[in-house]
This record gives sequence, structure tokens and C-alpha cells, in this order.
Amino acid sequence: MSQPILTELRLDAFKSFRNARLPLSDVTFLTGRNSSGKSNALDGLDVLSRLAGGEVLADALDGRRRQGGTVRGGSRGCAPHGSPEFSLGCTVVQDDQEFSYSISVQVDPDLKIVDERLEGPAVAAKTGKLHKTVSIFQTRKASENSPGIEGEIYSGKKGSNPAKYFRDDRPVLAQIPNALQGGNQTERSILRAIEVVITALRGTFHIDPVPHLMRDFVPAHDTTLRRTGENLSPALNQLQQRDPHSFDKIVKLTRKIADDQVTDISFAKSSLQDVMLQLEEKRGPISKTVEELTPAREMSDGLLRILAIATTLKSTRESLDIDNQPSAGAIDAAPAGGVLIVIEELENGLHPSQAHRILDLIQQSHNETAVRVLATTHSPALLDAAEGILNDSIIVCHRDPETGYSRLTPLTQLPGYARALAEGTLGDAVTAGKLVDDVIESRDFSDFEKFLGVS
Ligand SMILES: Nc1ncnc2c1ncn2[C@@H]1O[C@H](COP(=O)(O)OP(=O)(O)O)[C@@H](O)[C@H]1O
Ligand SMILES: [Mg+2]
Repeated sequence: MSQPILTELRLDAFKSFRNARLPLSDVTFLTGRNSSGKSNALDGLDVLSRLAGGEVLADALDGRRRQGGTVRGGSRGCAPHGSPEFSLGCTVVQDDQEFSYSISVQVDPDLKIVDERLEGPAVAAKTGKLHKTVSIFQTRKASENSPGIEGEIYSGKKGSNPAKYFRDDRPVLAQIPNALQGGNQTERSILRAIEVVITALRGTFHIDPVPHLMRDFVPAHDTTLRRTGENLSPALNQLQQRDPHSFDKIVKLTRKIADDQVTDISFAKSSLQDVMLQLEEKRGPISKTVEELTPAREMSDGLLRILAIATTLKSTRESLDIDNQPSAGAIDAAPAGGVLIVIEELENGLHPSQAHRILDLIQQSHNETAVRVLATTHSPALLDAAEGILNDSIIVCHRDPETGYSRLTPLTQLPGYARALAEGTLGDAVTAGKLVDDVIESRDFSDFEKFLGVS
């Protein structure tokens, strides 16, 4: 059984999006102007991943004390302006099986599930035959003042599916394992489907490195990397012990990015066994080189940020701060691993000439550990480096000129693409704003409408 992977995020009604789809490849880049909706799309993924944890909605989205704090804008900010609810969905693939999950949450006047469903393969009760696409579960429209929400669960038999009551203050997905005993093969296939979706959704890790938080001594045992990178030092120290080969790659990357005079990365220890990473450097002419140490406290923001990203890429699921507990009632647990790493503005703090190095690191990490990456970028240099290898997975986020809604279009499908490339590199085109301007300024929207599927 291979790892379940998330192949599509659907933003049916979420912030600035209506009916948009974000296909997720092994490496996906999201680019586009300011306020076009890039971060909103990442927020959508963050929300789904939080919901998959099964917590009460208020805790999952607005809980201040949880890791990562509240979702950006809070639960109310998830609904498109003027609407009382938001809707999101995703597709998860495992081996040749495909699962489609969607959820709608009302945010005003109170927070509750109004619709939730999962479609995919499940096993028939009598014959044991796998049906490719059935409604595994589906909620019913709640009546006014009903105490919860009714959900029909696939029975594996002909006729309608029986309904059970679920609480509407938390996702039904996470409640079903408690409602089924797994006593027959149909139930077991349902429990497995749910586990597959939850595992894929929980296996996303949003890294949001905050360099100034990385400049302190941290207890050596605090090795599970958190999203701010605040415990980068012990996490990297642990990586050195667990996986010297990957650690070595990070040292080499640092040497190239920072300065060829960096010879190694090591760890200063305090008397309390706290650690802080440091660069070992050689300075001065060959005849009288001096060894110097640069502790994290004195390192540049850009380098700390890249180190946090590199460490994340080389980490296993267990060494990242992801909820790795199997969900309640899980049977036949899906293999964990294959984390989807989400990075905002990948190139931040990185000199343009170094953009290709981070891309190399991403691709190499994917080949070694099956890690997948979804990153936003404004960097022409990074897009130039990606040109040719990743064209199909560069997605442009832009506003629909008529409705103002955010749209996601694969780069290669933009009408301006061929012309822009003929005139220069991809990076030049992005710098000049050509690709999307063509969409917006063109008087003839027929092409544009065609690929959006509106005509
Ligand atoms: N709930 C919402 N409904 C509609 N639009 C929203 C909502 N929340 C944020 N926006 C819009 O999204 C834009 C910000 O998008 P964002 O994804 O942060 O941009 P960027 O592409 O720069 O990352 C703002 O213009 C804001 O008005
Ligand atoms: Mg943004």
C-alpha cells in the first residue's frame, strides 16, 4: 500500500475563491500579483488540514492556544464576503483509488457543519466487490433547530443508506470511526477510506520561518520541528545524528549560499545542555587563515530561513510537528509519510542567483523521501529555474476581470504564455506582468473564458 497523497484542493466558496481547483503535483508553485489570492488558497489547505484533526470547529479554527494559533482571519474570515458559510474539498489518491471529500461550514451566526460528504471506493456487503465510486457518507440537510446533523453511511447493500445522528460542531469525518464497529467488510472499507483522507490531510506542514525566534539556545531534546522554525537548532542537530547524508547536503548548500568560507555547521552547547547551531568559517589569506564561529544569534535572516526550509525538506513526518496519532477507531492504518510541505514566498531572503539551489534541494528531497512541496513565489529567478521542468505545475493566481473572484490557471494555459515565452524568459514575462495582463487587457475573452470553462 502506498502513501495517500493529496492531488487536488477545491476552493468551492472560500475567501476570494468560487469554484476554483488547485491541482497538486509533487512540486507546485503558485505565483501571481499581490492580493490575487495565493495565501487564501494556502489558507484553504490549512483549514482542511485542521478540520481533519477532528477537533471542535471553534478550537480547530479559532483556538489561540493551539500550535499555529488561529487560522488567518479566523473562522468568520473563511466565508466569502457577504456569505454565511465556506465550502472546501479535496481529492486524495492512494494506489489507484480516488477519494473525494467536501465540507461546508456555516460561520454566522454560529459555527457548524452544514454539509459534508465523502465519495470513493467501498466494498459491497454480500459480494465483497469493490465499487469504485459510491457515496461513502453524506449528510442530510439539517432542519431548523435540529440538535445535530444526520449522516447517511454506505451500507454496502441495495436501497437507501441508514442515517445516524452526528454532532454538527465538529467534522463528521472524524466522528464516523466512533459510530462504526468495523464488523463487516463494508464498514472496514469505510474506516479505511476515512483514515486515508485524514492521513493525507493531516500530513501537511506549513512552514513559516521566523528568523529572530531561531537565535536562542533551545533544549537539545526539543527536536520535533515547529512551523516557525524556533527549534531549528535541536532539530538540525537531531538530523545530523539520524541522517548524516542529508545533514551533509545542508552543509554543502550553506557553503554555496552563504560563503565558500563556511566549512561546517556545528552546535554550541550550554551548561544546561541547550543547543545553538553555528557556522564554522575560515577567514583570511591561505597562509594565515583564522577559524571563526558564527552562532545562530549572529546569522543572517535569509540564511536561517533557508536552513529551516532545508531542514524541513529533509525531515521525516515523525520529526515534524504534525499530529501523527492514528485517529480514533482507525484500523488498517494508512502508511504515514509523504508530507506536503507548504511554504510562503519560498525565495524570501535568498539572492536571485541562488534560486536554482533551493529548487534542486526540493527535487532531490522529493526523490529521496517522497516529500511534496506547495510554495508561493514572486521570484522571476525561481520561475526561470523551474521553467521547462515544472511548467505544468506552475499555477497562476489572478482575478477574474468580470467577477473579481480569484482564479487559478496553469501557466501553460494562459493565453499570453506562448507569446511571452517567445519574447523572453518566463521570469521576464512575470516581471513585466505580461502573462496576466494579457488575460485582463485582452478585449477578446473567448480564450480566457474557454479555459475557465465559462463559455
Ligand atoms: N473572506 C473573504 N472574502 C472575499 N475576499 C477576501 C476574504 N478574505 C480575504 N479576501 C481578499 O483576499 C485578498 C488577499 O489575498 P491573499 O491571498 O492574501 O493575497 P496574495 O496573493 O498576495 O497572497 C484581499 O484583497 C482580500 O480582500
Ligand atoms: Mg500572500
